[in-house]
Amino acid sequence: MAKASQQSHRKDEHVFLAEKFHDDDRRNDFDHVHFIHNSLPELDIDQVSIGTKLGNDALRSPFYINGMTGGSPRTGKINRQLAEIAALTGIPMASGSQTIALAEPDLADTFKVIRQYNPSGFVLGNIGAGHGVEDAKKAIAMIDANALEIHVNAAQEIVMPEGDREYHWLDNIDQIVHHVDVPIIVKEVGFGMSRESIQQLAEIGVKMIDVSGRGGTNFIKIENERRHEKDFGFMSAWGQSTVQSLLEAHSADTDAQIIASGGVRNPLDIVKSLRLGASAVGVSGEILHSLLHGDPTDTAAMIMSWLGQIQDLLLLLGARNLDELHTKDIYFDPELVNYLQQRDIHL
Ligand SMILES: Cc1cc2nc3c(=O)[nH]c(=O)nc-3n(C[C@H](O)[C@H](O)[C@H](O)COP(=O)(O)O)c2cc1C
Repeated sequence: MAKASQQSHRKDEHVFLAEKFHDDDRRNDFDHVHFIHNSLPELDIDQVSIGTKLGNDALRSPFYINGMTGGSPRTGKINRQLAEIAALTGIPMASGSQTIALAEPDLADTFKVIRQYNPSGFVLGNIGAGHGVEDAKKAIAMIDANALEIHVNAAQEIVMPEGDREYHWLDNIDQIVHHVDVPIIVKEVGFGMSRESIQQLAEIGVKMIDVSGRGGTNFIKIENERRHEKDFGFMSAWGQSTVQSLLEAHSADTDAQIIASGGVRNPLDIVKSLRLGASAVGVSGEILHSLLHGDPTDTAAMIMSWLGQIQDLLLLLGARNLDELHTKDIYFDPELVNYLQQRDIHL
């Protein structure tokens, strides 16, 4: 049985607070991106494929369950349920940070369920960027991961009551990218990435980057709520939105694959992300919310309907696949045009 350490308790608090701050009517920058409607699609649904590729891996779904849970008995149960959902729907699933199980091995079972309940699915491990090659290999082996996420979360650590103040991460990432034999995704946790950060990662050989931007789960709000003084409220709008981050990626000089996550609420947000250059899309808060309000079969049904609706949207746009989607016209509301101008981004 897992022991209830401070870190273990923190994982439960993250789930509780993410759900407390979840807002069904939340607006974000995806609302400032619009497709031009096409009245004559000249296609039928059987001609539309929504498959994508991450590195050399072909994925039938362009979206996946992004890293959230594990590390406590309660979040171990959520991992088991998410694994069942991933197995039922065939979409990939990332683990929450496995860092805790490296320090407290008896918590490893709360992660191992991800593989036990989804033996043939595409599964991603997850560790913090403070870890080196050996820890990365242990995290991969723990769940027989097909890929590994390395999270960079400086803004979260700043506000976390027990957070780190030493952020020297590029060397670790460099070592892992060159000495681990599964694909590596470096990801933010909801604060987005600038073209400069994307470029720095690409320069050390990172081939997949999840910009995970502002607009959904907000770890500054979550960590501030855990502080006695609640004195970091002034930072609640920190970071680039997911849309801004995807635009940043356009102006980075790299061929790294870009993944979108952060504030993805529905199939249209996914299709907008794909149109803006994402190869795949991660969803966390929305899936957690669904699971906490129903049972795993309800969440699996929601995911199946999203897959169908993504296909419907491509059909409506007259796009047979994600390559053709990239050619479809979009326009932006003034706030994003302003952002593009000030950041000197040309599409
Ligand atoms: C309860 C919860 C726990 C999370 N834990 C992790 C984690 O351990 N590692 C990580 O890389 N990201 C973690 N995240 C961040 C998500 O992967 C994602 O980057 C972020 O929530 C933005 O996506 P969203 O708006 O769809 O939730 C967590 C998110 C939630 C909601």
